[in-house]
Amino acid sequence: TGMFTYDPGFTSTASCESALTYIDGDQGVLLHRGYPIGELAEHSSFMEVSYLLLNGELPSEDELDKFTYTISRHTMLHEQLSTFYRGFRRDAHPMAVMCGVVGALSAFYHDSTDITDPRQRMIASHRLIAKMPTIAAMAYKYSVGQPFLYPKNDLSYTGNFLRMTFGVPAEEYEIHPAVEKAMDRIFILHADHEQNASTSTVRLAGSSGANPFACIAAGIACLWGPAHGGANEAALNMLREIGTPDKIPEYIARAKDKNDPFRLMGFGHRVYKNYDPRATVMQKTVREVFDALKVDDPLFETALRLEEIALRDDYFIEKKLFPNVDFYSGVILSAIGFPTTMFTVLFALARTVGWVAQWNEMISDPEQKIGRPRQLYTGPTERPYVPLDAR
Ligand code: CMC
Repeated sequence: TGMFTYDPGFTSTASCESALTYIDGDQGVLLHRGYPIGELAEHSSFMEVSYLLLNGELPSEDELDKFTYTISRHTMLHEQLSTFYRGFRRDAHPMAVMCGVVGALSAFYHDSTDITDPRQRMIASHRLIAKMPTIAAMAYKYSVGQPFLYPKNDLSYTGNFLRMTFGVPAEEYEIHPAVEKAMDRIFILHADHEQNASTSTVRLAGSSGANPFACIAAGIACLWGPAHGGANEAALNMLREIGTPDKIPEYIARAKDKNDPFRLMGFGHRVYKNYDPRATVMQKTVREVFDALKVDDPLFETALRLEEIALRDDYFIEKKLFPNVDFYSGVILSAIGFPTTMFTVLFALARTVGWVAQWNEMISDPEQKIGRPRQLYTGPTERPYVPLDAR
């Protein structure tokens, strides 16, 4: 391949050094700053994990209080943005709205963000983490035609988000503790995942020195695709389409058919060639939410059966395809009351922490250069221009 290594899809190219997240795909291990995801999901909170990813260490009680307070000071959006929302169609996909609104924030914080100043970078990071729940909830409110709710900073990060999403001004919104806990855990599970497509997009956009809000908008755009964050929405739609367990073999056969583009959504991963440790926690969380809300959804049974049948099938065994984080999340999110179109928005909300932490790490890295992949040119060799009347 001449001067360059040809590596489509970057399957074997490390684009950066990073001290944030470690994945051992063969063993199914995921660590944030050394801490196993299972332990963080069990004992930590999303605010704590955010602090950990941004600052490198778990916070002391005092540091956590201060961090949570700082984030709460940035939860409101510029009032002008409510007008911006109103420019969208009501049936716009909330990911399209989120992409637009976050990109638009760059216009509000352009001159005030000098990315060479670590302090200003941290303020931009706090703003993004703080405003994402407000932005996500407003996207939902707009789509259902309910009034936007302002944040209430005496609530937790996650509680605040739930209230802004499901509350209405006409009455008090009661946050269900089990739902708040499950939602917070889902945020932890999505917080970072090293150099996935959207994170690499944020780094690439940021490598030119672009405004961080614009870079995060680029990450959101990349996350939206069904091969990436959009898989949670696609997975639940697929489970609904399958419906009952008796239809599973038909879909397994389609997934294995080379001539059928259909794939089992929420299955397979570029890095994990073993069970995704996030899927383990997610599956457990489904049961907790169902018990707490006293609901049952036959789709969970279908999902469990689908997993069982796939994991016994030679095709999935040979290709090492296991459920990923997106396989079970949809079942929980829909039990909580989110429409499928909001699933990827929740992913983006949580992943913002990883994006800003990675962006900060990149900017502070003295080795960092503008990202500029090379190519193998396959077009025509030089040839003279042919005038229109001679073609
Ligand atoms: N169902 C059926 N076959 C599959 C699947 C699947 N879900 N995933 C991979 N394969 C097959 C694929 O056809 C290919 O077969 P062959 O070698 O015969 O051509 C082989 O397995 C390797 O797949 P690949 O597409 O070359 O692998 P990749 O690393 O480029 O893709 C992936 C990884 C996640 C995009 C892919 O597994 C996929 O499309 N999964 C479904 C979508 C999904 O769940 N995405 C969420 C990923 S995790 C969270 C996130 O990133 O947001």
